Amino acid sequence: MYAEISEILKGKMEGKQVSIRGWIFRQRSSGNLNFLVIRDATGRVQVAVKKDKVDEKSWKNASEVYIESSVTVVGEVKKDERAPGGWELQVSEFKTVYQGEPFPISKDLSEEFLLDVRHLWLRSRKLASIFKARHHLVNYLREYLDKEGFYETPPPMITKAECEGGSTLFEIEYFGDKAFLSQSGQLYQEALIFGLGKVYAFAPSFRAEKSRTIRHLAEYWHLEPEMAWYSQKDNMKLQEDLVEYAVQKFAKEHVDLLEELERDPKVLQKVKVPFLRMDYEDAVDKVNDLGGKMEQGEDFGTKDEALLTKELEKPLFIHNFPSKIKAFYMQDDPDKPGTVLASDMLAPEGHGEMIGGSERIWELPVLEKKMKEFGLGPKQMAWYVDLRKYGSVPHSGFGMGIERFVKWTLGLHHIRDTIPFPRTITRVYP
Ligand code: 4AD
Ligand code: MG
Repeated sequence: MYAEISEILKGKMEGKQVSIRGWIFRQRSSGNLNFLVIRDATGRVQVAVKKDKVDEKSWKNASEVYIESSVTVVGEVKKDERAPGGWELQVSEFKTVYQGEPFPISKDLSEEFLLDVRHLWLRSRKLASIFKARHHLVNYLREYLDKEGFYETPPPMITKAECEGGSTLFEIEYFGDKAFLSQSGQLYQEALIFGLGKVYAFAPSFRAEKSRTIRHLAEYWHLEPEMAWYSQKDNMKLQEDLVEYAVQKFAKEHVDLLEELERDPKVLQKVKVPFLRMDYEDAVDKVNDLGGKMEQGEDFGTKDEALLTKELEKPLFIHNFPSKIKAFYMQDDPDKPGTVLASDMLAPEGHGEMIGGSERIWELPVLEKKMKEFGLGPKQMAWYVDLRKYGSVPHSGFGMGIERFVKWTLGLHHIRDTIPFPRTITRVYP
């Protein structure tokens, strides 16, 4: 039986003989004493190998292992204030499971190099903590939607539909025909609300983003709820409740991970509903007040959103965008002509957009007119238009970029660290 290192660090094994298995994290020797730090998926612990306390083989193993070699160790648990974590194993047996070659990540820590050896760098403390955190955050989002009566329904990844416009579509050859990698599962989720009421997709979306920024990926994970009978107001309420739930639960239950990532839980504790709300026009004025440069009618760029949210402590909804700069499926606001019943939720502290949502056009003539304005022929999306012919109902939905959400929640600088193998304009390897 092997103990997990976290069990030792909890202090319940003092004086006991235990076996652990893991990888060499650090190594230091002085004469007849070898200090090594072993890590497993749960933690790190120091082990002390004394030449006169182990057989020759163990001594040789402990002296020759490399960083990241895999090992098993037997020893007695001792309290030691000087050891990281406060505990040490006094080793009686040290086996090398796989010595391998010297680990290539040691001195060169340049960004490009670390991205080239991403498959190895995933073992780092930082990335391991991020992916544990991501797992919990995604679980809490799903948990909330499940409690609210949503069904998860998978959308296709290969499609003919241009959900978010042609400029970021990845085209693929499809048995002699052309198709696209999905930009969003939304249109398909809309078809599912008639049978299931409230649904969500959790799947990758693909964007041929030509821009190189700290928040764009070519492949990202997209959480897309779609709800029958929901107004845009109901939609925004759901979004803020969902985000509050996931962030609060995470801040409460994973203080350890936040500490590891140097993210102050107090910052997250302030993320309480209601979130902030601002009309599009006011938001443009605000960007200009803050030293940015925007015209009314323009869309916000990464820098504008950073300006708008830098000083905020909770997310900000921007609503009533001009219909011209938003997607074809969005319902006009009868109270403010020329604008749509849509909102973006921007994450605070300079992170910017993490959710885009809207009320959908649900009546046939309105949709046909709008599609024409957007130059969309009904042919490729006849099935979507069809949904408006039979018992159509008002409905709304939104899409959350999981990596954007994780980036903000964990206070990370670059989106690439929120996904194990990031795909960007300059990188598809490893
Ligand atoms: O605002 P977007 O383009 O909206 C849609 O795709 C809608 N069809 C969603 C819906 O209503 N079901 O994308 C939604 C979210 C953005 O707010 C952002 O968080 C994320 O997807 N996103 C990206 N994340 C990483 N890299 C990219 N290139 C992204 N593009 C969008
Ligand atoms: Mg958007």
